[in-house]
Amino acid sequence: MTEPVRFYDHKDEADIVREWDSIAPIRDRQVALHQDTSYERVLEPWILGRVDRSTAKRIVDVGCGTGRLTSKLAIRSSETLGIDPSAVSIGLARAHDDVTRFEVATAEEWVRRGSDARFDLAVANMVLMDALDLDGIVGALAALARGGVVLSTIAHPAFWPIYWEYAGSDGFSYLDEKVVETPFRTSSQSYGLVATHVHRPIEMYLRSFRRHGLTVTAFEELRGPESIENFPYPRFIGIEASVLP
Ligand SMILES: C[S@@+](CC[C@H](N)C(=O)[O-])C[C@H]1O[C@@H](n2cnc3c(N)ncnc32)[C@H](O)[C@@H]1O
Repeated sequence: MTEPVRFYDHKDEADIVREWDSIAPIRDRQVALHQDTSYERVLEPWILGRVDRSTAKRIVDVGCGTGRLTSKLAIRSSETLGIDPSAVSIGLARAHDDVTRFEVATAEEWVRRGSDARFDLAVANMVLMDALDLDGIVGALAALARGGVVLSTIAHPAFWPIYWEYAGSDGFSYLDEKVVETPFRTSSQSYGLVATHVHRPIEMYLRSFRRHGLTVTAFEELRGPESIENFPYPRFIGIEASVLP
């Protein structure tokens, strides 16, 4: 890797939102043009396969980004809401889907605003490792889908650092939570932009789920679309959890 990966103990929510605002148009184009093969071949099929087997009628897509997945969830439900703190992302979502409801908010802000709307299903596709406050967002998911189901995918914390080649870096330790800034690039282009995720060991996710009354009902390690020769380990985890009433 030519561009550096940087570690931080802390970043502000506003920095993260700015990063997603800058990345959103590029990400949206990638997904629309079927160029994000991990999303297209691994993550979306995992989520939609589970949604199709469920009876959920009211779905909230937490961290919906530019809403491409939300629109597909909307076809499968009677009421769908997409929320994301990136206003640029939500603007793009509204531009390509003027039927589904999209709102600018973190999950935590949305719950704080006091809406008592409850959903049968909360989806968080590749969001939990991008949220700065894990307990905050898991608590919000639990509140939004009380008595229902949470479906989430995350970057696999054991293998993502190997994939991004920072597992052996000074400043990284698997068991410690760490804010990680990586260059944002596609297979063909570098944009001078960065994306931030928070590395956390798997046990931290599971502890947070337990604390907020989420019982894991499915836990699947998912390989990326690349060949075994290119990268042999699972890069993603799909987690389904039921939420206490
Ligand atoms: C990797 S993108 C995934 C977008 C979308 N779920 C998808 O499948 O394309 C992560 C998204 O999480 C959002 N996000 C970060 N922290 C969040 C929070 N606390 N609540 C809701 N969304 C958050 C970001 O703004 C970003 O759009």
